[in-house]
Amino acid sequence: MITSDMKRPDGAAEDWIIPQNWSAYTSQEHAMWDRLFDRQAKMLPNRVVKEFMDGLDVLRMTKPGIPDFDELSERLMKLTGWQVVAVPGLVPDRLFFEHLANRRFVAGRFIRTPEQLDYLQEPDIFHDVFGHVPLLANPVFADYMQAYGEGGLRADGFGSIDNLARLYWYTVEFGLIRQDDALKLYGAGIVSSYGESIFALDDPSPNRLGFDLKRLMRTQYRIDDYQQTYFVIDSFEDLLRQTIETDFAPLYRELQHETDLEVATVLPEDRVHAMGTQAYARAREIA
Ligand code: PHE
Ligand code: CO
Repeated sequence: MITSDMKRPDGAAEDWIIPQNWSAYTSQEHAMWDRLFDRQAKMLPNRVVKEFMDGLDVLRMTKPGIPDFDELSERLMKLTGWQVVAVPGLVPDRLFFEHLANRRFVAGRFIRTPEQLDYLQEPDIFHDVFGHVPLLANPVFADYMQAYGEGGLRADGFGSIDNLARLYWYTVEFGLIRQDDALKLYGAGIVSSYGESIFALDDPSPNRLGFDLKRLMRTQYRIDDYQQTYFVIDSFEDLLRQTIETDFAPLYRELQHETDLEVATVLPEDRVHAMGTQAYARAREIA
């Protein structure tokens, strides 16, 4: 996430926000949303955390067509004080953090083409809105996202954005949660992907490790394929409490002297979830 030298695109305001221009979406674009939505909505109910389905419902995201950000923001504002705003693409780190710290979630407004149904490099509106927005209706997760933004501004002061970015990656984007003694999905990068929604829970190959803040911030991640390691939280309350109650400054200092862990590493002290049998076997070998 080295985005400090990015140039502001023409037409974007100082905060990089642009109008969503909802009325300009074509019927093909709305149909693309519906196709992606229906596929996920059929598959997710037993896989995704309960709060995600509740979010789709209370935000009325179950109605057909690409959501209108003004309408979403109005509902979100009443529930948790969040807004959804459109940006042209990735925004510089500090600006991204500032928006989060002020309860503004920045989202892309374009939607993938049929050729990109299962894979695209840049996050589109389906990833950003279907993946991220439902949990912003949950008060605890909403607080976590704001705290993360504030933490980002602080991390920048320590030159530690890369470490903190891993926390976003392994929670907001690719997090798993234990709920009713089963693993469930909550990360937006997973729930907006048909393939990874299955892989993350059912495939035996990835490691599913108990959440450990410092260990997680030492761990690299991959952007070119499904994750090889997921971190499992016990609850959103626990995630929020641990991250706001911990002063990250000493962790950042320690991390500067420690080598990164590669994506597939399993340490003897890791709490390995016994689902994903290969990871389990590997951890036992090491132990
Ligand atoms: N407590 C963190 C710090 O001291 C801030 C933070 C909160 C970071 C929540 C991430 C998520 O920097
Ligand atoms: Co995302």
